[in-house]
Amino acid sequence: MSSNVEVRVPDIGGAAGVKVIEVLVAVGDAVEKEQSLVTLESEKATMDVPSTAAGRVVAVHVAAGAEATEGTLVVTLEVAGEAKVAAAVTPAAIVGASLLATPATAAVTPAAIVGASLLATPALPAINETTFAKAHASPSVRRFARELGVDLGQVRGSGQKGRVSHDDVKAWVKQTLAAAGTRGAAGGSLPKLPEVDFAKFGPVRVVPLTRIQKISGPRLHASWVNLPHVTQFDQADITGMEATRQELKDSAAEKGVKLTPLAFVVRACARVIAKFPKFASSLDAAGENLVYKQYLHIGFAADTPNGLVVPVIRDADRKDVYEIARELAELSAKARAGQLKAAEMQGGCFTISSLGGIGGTAFTPIINAPEVAILGVSKSSQQPHWDGKQFVPRLMLPLSLSYDHRVIDGADGARFTAALALELANVAGLLEAVP
Ligand code: COA
Repeated sequence: MSSNVEVRVPDIGGAAGVKVIEVLVAVGDAVEKEQSLVTLESEKATMDVPSTAAGRVVAVHVAAGAEATEGTLVVTLEVAGEAKVAAAVTPAAIVGASLLATPATAAVTPAAIVGASLLATPALPAINETTFAKAHASPSVRRFARELGVDLGQVRGSGQKGRVSHDDVKAWVKQTLAAAGTRGAAGGSLPKLPEVDFAKFGPVRVVPLTRIQKISGPRLHASWVNLPHVTQFDQADITGMEATRQELKDSAAEKGVKLTPLAFVVRACARVIAKFPKFASSLDAAGENLVYKQYLHIGFAADTPNGLVVPVIRDADRKDVYEIARELAELSAKARAGQLKAAEMQGGCFTISSLGGIGGTAFTPIINAPEVAILGVSKSSQQPHWDGKQFVPRLMLPLSLSYDHRVIDGADGARFTAALALELANVAGLLEAVP
C-alpha cells in the first residue's frame, strides 16, 4: 500500500517573493526524510526546503527561477504505507540552515567569508546556472557555494567521481581571491570596502567633503597605492638654531618677518638637497628614467579651514632664511584665506609637512607624487644627551622622511636625514647669505 504526500514551502518568516534558485530532485528520485528538495533565496539568505517524508518523487511543481511563498507546493512524493508526515519544519531550523551551520562550513573563518563577500563582485566570476546544476556535490555544499557566490561548475572536486566537498569550495575561493589580489597589485581594481548604513545604529549628520578634500583625497590615495613608501625617522639637535632664532626673532619682526622654525627647516632642506639631488627628482611617466630638475621649488603643507593645500616656495635654494620666512607667512596667509593661485601650488620638487606647532613625536607623511620624498617635522622637545661625562639637555627636532623606495634606497634615506640633522645644527650655514 502507498499514498501521496505533498511537500510545501514551510513558514519562512513571512518572506514573500522568495526565488527558487535550484531544484535538487527530479521525478523518480528516491528521497530521504529531511533531504533538501529545492533551494530558495531571499534577499538575506539561501535556504533549503527539506522533505517531510521518505519516498519517491512523482511530481515536481516548481522550476528554477519561480517565486515561492509559504505554502507553495514543491513536490509530490509517493510514500510506502500510510503517509506519516513530519511536522512542518520550523522557521528557526530553516534560518539555521541558511546560516550554514554545518560542521564543515563552520570551519570557514568569518574573515574568509567577509573577504569572499567583499570581493564577490570583482573577484569571483558569475555563477553559470547550467554548470552549477551539473556539478557533483551535496545539497549542503551547494548551499555553501551559493552563500559565497561560488560557481560550483568551476570547482574541481577532490572526492570520488569528482565530488566537490566544502574544503574544495574553500580552497577555490582562497585561490581565486589570491589571484585577484595579484591582479590588483598589477593595476587591476582594488577590493571594495563594505557599505555601512550608519543611520541604522544611531542618528548621523552628513557633511559634504570640501572642494579641496575632493581634489586632494584621490591624489593622496593614488600616491599611497602607487608608491612604495618607506619612512626614515631621525632627530636633529636644534639647540643652537633655536637659541639663534630667539635672538633674531624680534629684530626680524621689526622688519615684518616672522622667523619660524619652519623657515630654518626649509633652508636646511635646500642645502642638503644640493648634496642629494635625487630627493628632488621624479620618475618619468614610463617609470624608466629619473628626471633631475635644474631648479628647487619646495612645497609646504598648510592646514586651512577647507583642507590641506601645498603652496610652493620657488627657487628655495636661492633664498636666505629671512626671504623664506617672509614667503612662508605670505603663502600660508593666502592659503588660509583660500586665495592661492594654481601656479602657487605647482612645480614642487620636495615637500615639508610641519606639525611642530601642534605636537606629536613622529608620523608617516604621504609623498606628494610625482615627487619622491617628503619630510615630516614634529614638535621639538628637550632630551637628555650624554656628552661623554654627563647628561645635558638638548632641544631635539623629530624628523620623519618618507621616500619612494623605487627611487631611493634605505641607506640614502638614512644618509639624507643624518645630513639634514647636521645642516640644522650648523647655525652659521643656515644664516649664510645667498648670492
Ligand atoms: N617644534 C616646536 N615648536 C614649533 C615647531 C616645532 N617643530 N614648529 C613651530 N613651532 C612653534 C612656533 O615657534 C610657533 O610658536 P611661537 O609663536 O611661540 O614662535 C608655533 O609653533 C606656531 O608656529 P606657526 O606660526 O604655525 O608656524 P609654523 O612655521 O610652524 O607652521 C604652517 C606654518 C603653515 C606649516 C602651519 O600653520 C600648518 O599649517 N601646519 C600644519 C601642516 C599640516 O597639516 N601637515 C600635515 C600634512 S599631512
